[in-house]
Amino acid sequence: MSLRTIEWKNNGIKIIDQTRLPAEFRYLCLKDIKSLWHAIKELKVRGAPAIGAAAALGVYLGVKGFKKKDFASFQKELDQVIAYLASSRPTARNLFWGLERMRRTALEHRDTPVEGIKKILFKETQEIIEEDRRVCRMIGFWGSKLIKDKDTVLTVCNAGILATLDYGTALGVIYKAKEQGKRIKVFACETRPLLQGARLTVWELEKNNVDVTLICDNMAAAVMKSGRIDKVIVGADRIAANGDTANKIGTYSLAVLSRYHNIPFYVAAPFSTFDGAVNTGKDIPIEERCPGEIKELYFKRPIAASRTKVFNPAFDVTDHGLITAIITERGIIKPPFGENIKKVMSNNKI
Ligand code: MRU
Repeated sequence: MSLRTIEWKNNGIKIIDQTRLPAEFRYLCLKDIKSLWHAIKELKVRGAPAIGAAAALGVYLGVKGFKKKDFASFQKELDQVIAYLASSRPTARNLFWGLERMRRTALEHRDTPVEGIKKILFKETQEIIEEDRRVCRMIGFWGSKLIKDKDTVLTVCNAGILATLDYGTALGVIYKAKEQGKRIKVFACETRPLLQGARLTVWELEKNNVDVTLICDNMAAAVMKSGRIDKVIVGADRIAANGDTANKIGTYSLAVLSRYHNIPFYVAAPFSTFDGAVNTGKDIPIEERCPGEIKELYFKRPIAASRTKVFNPAFDVTDHGLITAIITERGIIKPPFGENIKKVMSNNKI
């Protein structure tokens, strides 16, 4: 299945409305940054790399109509657009990476006329999109080396085509292994409360003829104990300097369970997800979302009383000690993560 999850079309940002899947496949064309902000907040576009690319396109969308010709006024506008988009979701590093890359590009060309800077910014958005497509394929390439014929892989949330520009990180590893002729099975955790596993991962794996079985999140331990799972592969929203990894809520419990059952636990992520400025997982901001997602969404009638207190963190942090290896576009990083991440980030080598 070849699918472009995000592109610039008809003077707007064309995305797939992921909240409607799998029942309905519908594109949205976002023509202003307020619509984009809401699309990110409401997970119409979601997944760390996809959010990063959408935000970069959002910067261009936000400044393309700016009329004044002096750089100081342009920069003021640019900063406002970036600050606004940065407030949409707090956890995925890629969001801030995409925004900062656009800011840097504009500043590097401050001596170019404003109309020229806009063109350069547009070019940068296209480069970000193409880069993600290449990077995901490299993650798939390296990750597939860890996969054996007839392996069964457990995953959570959606770190696939829909979460990136068109190939996926954790699921990119599966796609690559399949392209190599390996017979792979996947168990997908449904991923309460927003059901990205049930709605999105199952949808895209089925479309790509991957053998997938859906389980409820609370079944993972029993499925591991039964000996059905060979490997766990998950995506990431932010990786701290020591390797602690924030990803969809429930990832940490899978890592703990994997350790208990002696199953390798892999994180697949591009370098745009690494945050060298954050030393450990304790400093990663974890998004908390509205109670209605737990109590009401996807149910005909509310499943809990409106007075019920709810805690709804969207992500959790997996301690680096529970991670077997991190699969990146530059290769596979093994422990000790603090040391090895630093090495890879500074000299591009593993
Ligand atoms: O809340 P979501 O659906 O944006 O969460 C997404 C995840 O947790 C993904 O695993 C992560 O962003 C990696 S996507 C390649």
